[in-house]
Amino acid sequence: MANSFRGPVLGIESSCDETATAVLDESGRVLAEAVHSQEREHAPFGGVVPEIAARAHLAALPHQIRATMAKAGLTFAELGAVAASAGPGLIGGLIVGSQMAKGIAIARRLPYVAVNHLEAHALTARLPGLLPDGAPFPYLLLLISGGHCQCVAVEGVGRYVRLGGTIDDAAGEAFDKIAKLLGLGWPGGPALEKLAALGDSSRHDFPRPLMRREGCDFSFSGLKTAVARAVERYPAGALPQSEAADIAASFQRAVAEVLADRAGNAMAMMRARSPAARLLVVAGGVASNGAIRTALTQAADARGFQMVAPPVRLCTDNAVMVAWAGLERLRLGWTDGIGFAPRPRWPLDEPGMDRTVA
Ligand code: KG4
Ligand code: ZN
Repeated sequence: MANSFRGPVLGIESSCDETATAVLDESGRVLAEAVHSQEREHAPFGGVVPEIAARAHLAALPHQIRATMAKAGLTFAELGAVAASAGPGLIGGLIVGSQMAKGIAIARRLPYVAVNHLEAHALTARLPGLLPDGAPFPYLLLLISGGHCQCVAVEGVGRYVRLGGTIDDAAGEAFDKIAKLLGLGWPGGPALEKLAALGDSSRHDFPRPLMRREGCDFSFSGLKTAVARAVERYPAGALPQSEAADIAASFQRAVAEVLADRAGNAMAMMRARSPAARLLVVAGGVASNGAIRTALTQAADARGFQMVAPPVRLCTDNAVMVAWAGLERLRLGWTDGIGFAPRPRWPLDEPGMDRTVA
């Protein structure tokens, strides 16, 4: 299909607990962006409440879209296309964001792109200016967030091969659950990392699930249970601060070592598929953890790979990545019909993602 779009792309993200909007010009330059994190709305419940998330997206998006357009100095008439996260994620939020995008597309007769949120994470590293020579295909993606934990061979736009993933919790979910046990609030990752900095990571020898096993699947439930046991040795409220710090540090070290081990296997699998591959791209909120970054950098060095991670604001959920994924698809002439229904489940490696299979 011919590449028929012209002009800036508006991207909308609303698949979980970030309401985000961005406008990119045709080359991928960010003209304006905004992110509203719903942390305050969900914190009293210790996790994301889907209905509250949907209502918060509904409350924030209309104003945020107008403000982002104004910041970009554009009217809706000047847009070239609209893209929105259409899955996977929480259905209420997905409906809110994609319906608004479709409304704008219909009103302005613009092409619409239903973006797979995981594809948006996968392609972020290709944003112009992020890496010195871009991120040429193929590369290995390690996506470690609150909702996802998987290794993906990124072979082209729409061409993804899932090499492995978690068989229970996502890495961020494990951080959040342990943080909750330690009374650190939600989301727990950043608070746990801070506490871990004060502790001794060799105090507890927690299990490293699946470590040194074949493949690149992950598991965190055994580790979580072991940590819970260490915490429960103390009566409620009596866990000394220094012990909490040692537990946090030992847990974080176990996760870092598991991720490095699994990523090491994934790099070997990637090389076997594509001998020219040399890039390990790490994305998702957990990629902002210093100990994990260090462990992954070492694992990459040992395999002759380069570890790269987009800046934290582009690793966590945002709309720049949604607009960019939209742009990558638009450049290939791939758009979606207004009838595209948002999808709570939408695997990245589904046939047809690259439009070659019906
Ligand atoms: O990518 P993200 O913003 O949202 C999705 O889940 O899609 O990731 C959020 C997750 C949460 O589980 C949070 O606790 C974790 O990333 N996280 C961290 C850190 N910062 C965020 N985990 C460990 N260390 C951190 N510094
Ligand atoms: Zn995400």
